[in-house]
Amino acid sequence: MKLGCCYYPEHWPEDIWADDARRMVDMGLSQVRIGEFAWSRIEPDPGRFDWDWLDRAIATLGDAGLEIILGTPTATPPKWLVDSMPDMVAIDADGRPRGFGSRRHYCFSHPGYRAQCQRIVTALAERYGEHPAIVAWQTDNEYGCHDTIVSYSQAATAGFRRWLERKYGDISALNTAWGNVFWSMEYRSFDEVDPPNLTVTEPNPAHVLDYRRFASDEVVTFNKLQVDILRPASPGRDMIHNYMGFFTEFDHHDVGQDLDVASWDSYPLGFLEQFWFSDEEKLRYARQGHPDIAAFHHDLYRGCCAGGRWSVMEQQPGPVNWARYNPAPLPGMVRLWTMEAIAHGAELVSYFRWRQAAFAQEQMHAGLLRPDSGEAPAASEARQAAQDIEAIGDNRPTAKSVALLFSYEAAWLFDTQPQGASFRYLELVFDMYSALRQLGLNVDIISPRAALDGYGMIVAPSLPILDDQLITQIAAVDAPILFGPRSGSKTPDFAIPEALPPGPLQRLMPIKVSRVESLRPGLVEPIASHEISRWIEQIDAGTITAEARMDKGDGILFAHENIRYLGAWPDQAWMTNLFAKMAAEANITTRPLPRDLRLRQLGSLCFAFNYGTAALTLSDCLAGSADREFVLGSDLIGPAGLAAWVAD
Ligand code: GAL
Repeated sequence: MKLGCCYYPEHWPEDIWADDARRMVDMGLSQVRIGEFAWSRIEPDPGRFDWDWLDRAIATLGDAGLEIILGTPTATPPKWLVDSMPDMVAIDADGRPRGFGSRRHYCFSHPGYRAQCQRIVTALAERYGEHPAIVAWQTDNEYGCHDTIVSYSQAATAGFRRWLERKYGDISALNTAWGNVFWSMEYRSFDEVDPPNLTVTEPNPAHVLDYRRFASDEVVTFNKLQVDILRPASPGRDMIHNYMGFFTEFDHHDVGQDLDVASWDSYPLGFLEQFWFSDEEKLRYARQGHPDIAAFHHDLYRGCCAGGRWSVMEQQPGPVNWARYNPAPLPGMVRLWTMEAIAHGAELVSYFRWRQAAFAQEQMHAGLLRPDSGEAPAASEARQAAQDIEAIGDNRPTAKSVALLFSYEAAWLFDTQPQGASFRYLELVFDMYSALRQLGLNVDIISPRAALDGYGMIVAPSLPILDDQLITQIAAVDAPILFGPRSGSKTPDFAIPEALPPGPLQRLMPIKVSRVESLRPGLVEPIASHEISRWIEQIDAGTITAEARMDKGDGILFAHENIRYLGAWPDQAWMTNLFAKMAAEANITTRPLPRDLRLRQLGSLCFAFNYGTAALTLSDCLAGSADREFVLGSDLIGPAGLAAWVAD
């Protein structure tokens, strides 16, 4: 459990580096990430490397006792490189090049750019692979940031055709799988297949889904190319990539196969402002972030790497520059976010960035220091968090409790065919996650391919494509399990299953979805004192009786042995009741929480986090003994405050 920061020695005069390093250590930081955007300084002209400054920066930071995470600079190819092969940039859906002048101006599929990446990563690995101060490598930076996964370039087109040929073998198999007889879309060879853009009306969804799968695979191989160079040259060092928030454009589970640590960049206030939250939530949590935003990603990325190792590579320290509105966190929030990550098992929380830059795109983005090197408010909170980490000692993540199955492919499929503008996969998953967290439960968000044993309860918010392996796994599980709407609704080729949804799930639960409908905002169906919105399925359940019915009489929740199928999108309070019932069946203790309070267990400790602007008294909120043995805080938790105690 360490703290760190992101530092850009190339942004600052060399004569302040040593003092910066000393101040980092003094603040309680022990790791520093550098280098990920420095290509133009490392290689100012083609083939001419300037290592001296980086040698000295690494030496200065290392001599101060800091461990270094070195980033590969492939998110920012220099101008000379782009000019040498202008077709290396990605092409957007409207056919426009995404040019030089910011970052991420490359197409994952361009063979020439891949060769250049190989060259610069090899040079870095040879020079610093065995440097004692380097403890880890970060590959690139935030794959997909600024909407850069899907490209429609010539390189991507050629790569897609090869990918299709490998998948289908011959073109008639592709035509059959996609249903290309519809509208005379049949191809005679793979060379005739273009990317699914610039069509008159919507392209074939099967075509789009394959393109999304292809684009995701391109990220996997791009990342692997770097890891394969770094691993042998830098033995014992961790391979890390920094993922993003609410981002599903590539399969993070697949990329994670080649990493040692999945890290992510946590900007709770920016995410609250940018995503689907209601105006009421945006106001209520403007300076705190929604209580489940950070935790959701902690629990998601813990499941993205074998071994469950994860960290926060960038932690918001103050106002950011990129959301519509950029408020300052409530005093205490930076410490709270830090300790919440630690409570979820993070190995590292690293603040972005050390010092606010006075120049260029991110000059309005806070750091731990102001541009004049004075401390920003986050600095004292980082110091406090360093002391908190000392106080809680060595605690390991807690045993398995609830598994929530998350599929990147499901996100692509529903993006491609929402069938109702408000059917958003990530929002459905987050809704269910939040309902579970409001019961005080510990949740692991895992891949549908992950092992399910040991979980007391399993929730699949929606898995439209159910494969045989998962059905076999489910059949072997006794724990209560819920499948949400549209599960099993498509074949892997994006067609409706022959026996109708939920497709392969019918092997375990003989029901049939005979009709579906999406609802515009305001059109709702009452269910007891709750509401169903967005999505309703009509289910022929034969002899299985409904466990819950809408007020008009139609069943929407069906249970068969330990499996439940929910054919609707009910409100969160209704979901919370259902999860409480499932938890009771699984003998899992629930603790219904006030809206602003969240709990998390880490080893022998229980943590509480107050996301509200008013103080909370724990003993009023939680059942059980009032005299807790606190290691942090006390029974009274102030606004943006936290407490940790030895769990009962
Ligand atoms: C991240 C990115 C950083 C910086 C930061 C600003 O997405 O990795 O380089 O731009 O956002 O919040």
